Amino acid sequence: MVIDTHAHYDDKRFEEDLDRIMCDMKAQGMIAVNASIDRKSWEDTIRLIETYEPLYGMLGIYPEYVADYGDQDLDRIRELAAHERIVAIGEIGLDYHYENHPDKELQMEWFRKQISLAKELHLPINVHSRDAAEDTLNVIRSENAAECGGIIHCFSSSPEIALEYVKLGFYLGIGGVVTFSNAKKLKEVVKAIPIENIVLETDCPYLAPMPHRGERNSSLYLPLVIEEIAGLKDMTVDEVEQITEKNAREVYRL
Ligand code: NI
Repeated sequence: MVIDTHAHYDDKRFEEDLDRIMCDMKAQGMIAVNASIDRKSWEDTIRLIETYEPLYGMLGIYPEYVADYGDQDLDRIRELAAHERIVAIGEIGLDYHYENHPDKELQMEWFRKQISLAKELHLPINVHSRDAAEDTLNVIRSENAAECGGIIHCFSSSPEIALEYVKLGFYLGIGGVVTFSNAKKLKEVVKAIPIENIVLETDCPYLAPMPHRGERNSSLYLPLVIEEIAGLKDMTVDEVEQITEKNAREVYRL
């Protein structure tokens, strides 16, 4: 079974044909975990996981938005997280790529708060990290996030940093980017880390694998990612599918 550990099915680009996609996923025995980013997407995620059998969800405040959030929002997450199909806190983390994002200190403060919430709720975290590799690893270490564990989503750093996460028992989310011919560093990462630490993800509607690069992505394209990983690890596609399924079930307790 193919498990997509990070998707955004509440995105507008799925409005027209979500029923059909969910139907196809169900027929192929696929599961996806919907990542949320703000108040609206928490509510949308709950609605989706109550509507569609293949979907589970996670709740979190995306680094871009933390300046508009307060402790009452953490209470709301606490409330909604009681739902049996909410399996993680995410996506949370640090994004230093854009100049208009909240300053680093505030992003780190909210990253810490949400790691602490995940530990309190006994849920793993799903981490977004862009141009912030060092601080992300430092916060994860200093907050002892290994206690709740989780996934580094859309991993984009070096093999050395990947191996640090492996030591901490974290999983790395690998998606469409690994199929791009210019993704040399990510291909090295996949070769360097054990398959036992890899989970599949799409981040759909973004990051469709080759030959669909630039199109709307969905979990249905994950076999293309599996094929690429199988090639890099010299394994069969069945092995990659089975082991990544086991990994996803372990981290999200599915
Ligand atoms: Ni995402």
